[in-house]
Amino acid sequence: MCGIVGYIGTDSVRDIILKGLKRLEYRGYDSAGVAVKDGGQISLLKKKGRIEDLPKDEIPGSNIGIGHTRWATHGKPSDENAHPFLDCSGNISIIHNGIIDNFVSIKEDLIERGHQFTSETDSEVIAHLMEENYEGDMVDALQKTVEVLEGSYAIVAIHSKHDEIVAARDQSPLVVGVGDGENLLASDVPAILDHTQDVKYLQDGDIVRLKKDFVEIWDMDGNPVERETKTVDWTIEDAEKGGYEHYMMKEIHEQPQAIHDSILGRLKGFEKLDLKKYRIDSIRLIACGTSFHAALVGKYIIEEISGIPCMVEMASEYRYSSRLSEYPFTILLSQSGETADTLAAAKEASHRGCKTLGITNVLDSSLTREVDEVVYTQAGPEIGVAATKTFTTQLIVLYLVAIELGLMKRTLSVDKAETYRDELRRLPRLVEKILDKSEDIKELSKILAAAEDIFFVGRNINYPVALEGALKLKEIAYIHAAGYPAGELKHGPFALLTDDTPVISLCIKDNTFQKMLGNVGEIAARGSPIFGVGEKDKETEKLCDYHVHIPEVLPLFSPIIVNVVLQLFAYYTAYELGRDIDKPRNLAKSVTVE
Ligand code: AGP
Repeated sequence: MCGIVGYIGTDSVRDIILKGLKRLEYRGYDSAGVAVKDGGQISLLKKKGRIEDLPKDEIPGSNIGIGHTRWATHGKPSDENAHPFLDCSGNISIIHNGIIDNFVSIKEDLIERGHQFTSETDSEVIAHLMEENYEGDMVDALQKTVEVLEGSYAIVAIHSKHDEIVAARDQSPLVVGVGDGENLLASDVPAILDHTQDVKYLQDGDIVRLKKDFVEIWDMDGNPVERETKTVDWTIEDAEKGGYEHYMMKEIHEQPQAIHDSILGRLKGFEKLDLKKYRIDSIRLIACGTSFHAALVGKYIIEEISGIPCMVEMASEYRYSSRLSEYPFTILLSQSGETADTLAAAKEASHRGCKTLGITNVLDSSLTREVDEVVYTQAGPEIGVAATKTFTTQLIVLYLVAIELGLMKRTLSVDKAETYRDELRRLPRLVEKILDKSEDIKELSKILAAAEDIFFVGRNINYPVALEGALKLKEIAYIHAAGYPAGELKHGPFALLTDDTPVISLCIKDNTFQKMLGNVGEIAARGSPIFGVGEKDKETEKLCDYHVHIPEVLPLFSPIIVNVVLQLFAYYTAYELGRDIDKPRNLAKSVTVE
């Protein structure tokens, strides 16, 4: 997830691009760079760090330029890995957002043909491919280039001899800002709002040419197309949140894309995670907070798919636990990669002689330096304090790790692995279906907002989802909530059930379904209002006072879908109560003290 800005017009690009990038900083901020057409050549300036670290005065005055702010995926944050990139001739400069899955083989071929590379990124191959494909027309060169790319991209390019900007998109956002005697390109609307409110949203497969007074677009088949110009009446602040009132809601809605990116990045990227070199007979998962809940779900996922026994520990407890003479392969999960308890646990695990794998969202974060292996979630920056899309993508990585382990241990057949991967690929669409129910969930949340205590119950793999639902509600709505295995309420918590105590019951059609319905019946008999979440089912609906339907999904993958319902419950309940949703009281996004 990176930020892209392009400008062609009559003003100097320097301030326009830097200001635009600043507005996109929420998309990534580990390095920044600008390329401008400077007379008959390209001038390039790029640097590790924030946009403010770019020496602004060194950017030449020009009316055509492109800029980028990076959130690293391939290659650590550094001056060399910062965008833009140049081809060998220095005439073509490109910026890219997305992931090029087949870049390794493209790069090898390009090196064989004499191209020299300056970075570790997947993106640089695009500049070199364009150089090979350029025969006088940049649109033509870009069209030929994207034909060989697999993955996702928003690409913007300039040439030292042409007064134009060309761009292409597929599965990564890119908008055109249509101005008066000037035109712009950006990954998101906030970057162009100072210049124009007229926007064309490009579609997957589109290629575009921008001159200062016109815009031409071609579709994926190369046919000229018109894309409707829409006028956005957002303020800058609205636009930074994608038109949502809170980052949390924006991030909830980014989940289909985040799942897609995490699958795409990992299915190929896993070639680099060679688990075969480790002896893995048992696994310990360690984390805090929401990441701990992902670890708990991970236990079910890994045991079911690979048959490897797992245990889960809170990072703050692990460090002080007895040192038994066993060396499980240890997986540490942390969105930020900076949580002090998790870092201390990673050090302790290595000290005890365990081999470690870190799963984090932040490239080069401290956790990555404490572990033997790293896998990145592809959620992009998460700004809301409440973890949403990062929990979802942690689960995606755990499914993929489990599939690798299952294949490695031969407990999973190749056919079954493909069935699981197909189900993973369906998930973005299924999450969309839940998001379409937002209005219904909002209405139900008005009832929850009146409660003082709320229970969340689930069984099996959805028990930890109940814990996560309760945590989210406590965190942002400030309502006391507790998650339980549904079969456990009768061993004590039943004493708390009244007709003012809503119970959110996760009734998923897995092998515990009938038992779950039995538990829901017991709760109903105590008079508590029951909010069911599960597939359409007459029996469940009879028992529940309210019901949110989820689409049919393999039970093993249901946590992703069910959890989105619970995120929306928490959000709308907090909203109803007027809470400070993105910055809940007493909390911080990253907890760097033990
Ligand atoms: C969840 O909404 C919280 N913000 C919190 O529990 C968080 O998951 C926890 O502090 C761990 O953070 P990490 O994933 O960055 O290590």
